Amino acid sequence: MKLAVLVSGTGSLLEAMIKDGLPIALVLADKPCRGLEIAGAAGIPTLLVARKDFRKDGKFDREAYTKKVVEELQSRGIELIAMAGFMTVFSKPMFDACEGRILNSHPSLLPAFKGESAVADALAAGVTETGTTIHVATMELDDGPILAQEKVPVMPGDTIETLWERIKVVERRLYPAVIRDYARKLGI
Ligand code: GAR
Repeated sequence: MKLAVLVSGTGSLLEAMIKDGLPIALVLADKPCRGLEIAGAAGIPTLLVARKDFRKDGKFDREAYTKKVVEELQSRGIELIAMAGFMTVFSKPMFDACEGRILNSHPSLLPAFKGESAVADALAAGVTETGTTIHVATMELDDGPILAQEKVPVMPGDTIETLWERIKVVERRLYPAVIRDYARKLGI
């Protein structure tokens, strides 16, 4: 399989995928981040398609950004895309080009707590458990067919950081296994 991993931050899920031995053909980021450094150190090809370079009328040009990423992925023959803490939302051209080939790991038990502050929102809501969801990404944000979910307890005194790290421990184990299983089903 030719797998691309998309990152924006710490890259600890990427690190787990590398340790797992997944055949990562490309790590793409939307801003300079530790994820890119980890990939570079592991000898994996990297590409920065910076959000800040895609502006139109003073706003982020999501359409142009999406088209550029699609072009880069297609030119490299990428067959499966795993978003691992990638914080840019793509527009329609991505889902037209790669339907059913984009996976995402989200730090909540979807459909609860969609969006970029999932961990903070779960904490603020006072739930006693949250978790992680690995799903096929579709046009609708944090939606799409669920491939795996696992619960994580919220402990007394948890902060966003302690709870998020407890969730990530699960993601680092679950996501590589789900990617392998999904690729097998696609026959790649
Ligand atoms: C993970 O918890 C992932 O679920 C989340 O970002 C973290 C990435 O961690 N993704 C999202 O919130 C996407 N909406 P990492 O940078 O340490 O790999």
